[in-house]
Amino acid sequence: MAKETLTITDNRTGKAYEIPITHGTVNAIDLRQIKVDAEDFGMMSYDPAFKNTASCTSRITYIDGDRGILEYRGYPIADLAEQSTFLEVAYLLMYGRLPKKDELAGWTRDISMHTLVHENIKKFIDGFQHSAHPMGMVVSAVAALSTFYPEAKNVADPAVRRLQVIRLLGKMPTLAAYAHRHSMGWHYVHPDNELSYAGNFLSMMFRMTEREYHSNPALERALDVLFILHADHEQNCSANAMRAVGSSHVDPYSAMAAAAAALYGPLHGGANEAVLRMLEQIGSVKNIPDFIKKVKTGEGLLMGFGHRIYKNYDPRANIIKRMADNVFEVTGRNPLLDIALELERIALQDEYFVKRKLYPNVDFYSGMIYQALRIPTDMFPVMFAIPRTVGWLAQWEEMITDQEQKIARPRQVYLGGRGEAYVPMNKR
Ligand code: CMC
Repeated sequence: MAKETLTITDNRTGKAYEIPITHGTVNAIDLRQIKVDAEDFGMMSYDPAFKNTASCTSRITYIDGDRGILEYRGYPIADLAEQSTFLEVAYLLMYGRLPKKDELAGWTRDISMHTLVHENIKKFIDGFQHSAHPMGMVVSAVAALSTFYPEAKNVADPAVRRLQVIRLLGKMPTLAAYAHRHSMGWHYVHPDNELSYAGNFLSMMFRMTEREYHSNPALERALDVLFILHADHEQNCSANAMRAVGSSHVDPYSAMAAAAAALYGPLHGGANEAVLRMLEQIGSVKNIPDFIKKVKTGEGLLMGFGHRIYKNYDPRANIIKRMADNVFEVTGRNPLLDIALELERIALQDEYFVKRKLYPNVDFYSGMIYQALRIPTDMFPVMFAIPRTVGWLAQWEEMITDQEQKIARPRQVYLGGRGEAYVPMNKR
């Protein structure tokens, strides 16, 4: 049998090193033994943006980007989107298996017992400008939760960790809806624990003077499916932020605020908002060729296209595209869909996009569904953050309990000056 090792010859010294291969990877620390002399620090690997570096082992989410495969805990995303609910998927992501009936009932009950937020949280949300971006409010509100639950810093205690997971899953929709209602200048609506996770969120978003709010079941289901599709995506920018910040053993609220902040960026979860603004700016199918020309000359990105991992198609985008029909049957067709479909058609034939393997990602079509649900454009990143909460928490739990993990602290290749003589102010 072939040896599971890699032999490296250092041409500076002529020395050969045999390094073990585990799961198709070499451990970067094994490179350190490669030295030109005893004084040498040893070889490091250089990988800006982690393009070819695994930072952890994981058993949560599997992606094969070349084949367009996405699985949570081994279950294909299309099956979960078709047959499951968000809370069931959340249990699956957290605990690694589908819940039995009574386990799901207990999980659902526990989460709905934690949907309320302290009255003081409403007060500080009130302190934001009405024009404040809802994602800015949510990032701050999540960070602030750590001051309400100081025991959360006991991250070594599994029971304490479990309670914060339940609290965060319960409270995220409430914080998100409150951010929206503050933007609108509307009163805050209490959670309704009789409703489903998605149904309760829609009620907190849109209930006005009615005693009870019941959303259209097709729209509620569509939102639940969107939540499933966004629940986790292995080591993306925000999951990496959750793990890196959590690796200092700070409480999960503080770590999750960092993760949500990472998600806010237009290259990550802020892309859904950027797509909608881009489609509105294009305005009409006839303007698409001009727009594509500008993208190709580097004047901007085709938002909602491209992915670090998917180089074939993003399976989530396909599911959303199919689901859009069900939603538009209820709400009427979103006129931006014609622009999006034509944009996709043209881009998929264009050499620029084909050569670079750029396909629609999850954010390309999701915004049009959110818009059909009457969710304002600047809430879109928040809509991503609600379900991604469970992904961040599953990644955090895995990191905290992984014996191989330590505080995340990368190395650098220093290229700056050394030993400069200090020059007094009057001599500069
Ligand atoms: N429009 C035009 N050109 C693009 C795009 C795009 N959307 N995406 C990548 N390219 C080009 C890029 O300019 C580069 O060209 P060249 O080789 O000539 O320099 C090439 O394709 C490779 O791109 P990259 O930037 O090296 O790829 P990356 O893996 O570092 O970035 C990405 C991935 C998602 C950040 C990027 O594709 C992008 O900025 N897309 C638009 C924003 C977006 O839709 N983000 C959502 C991602 S999916 C959901 C999520 O993760 O939150």
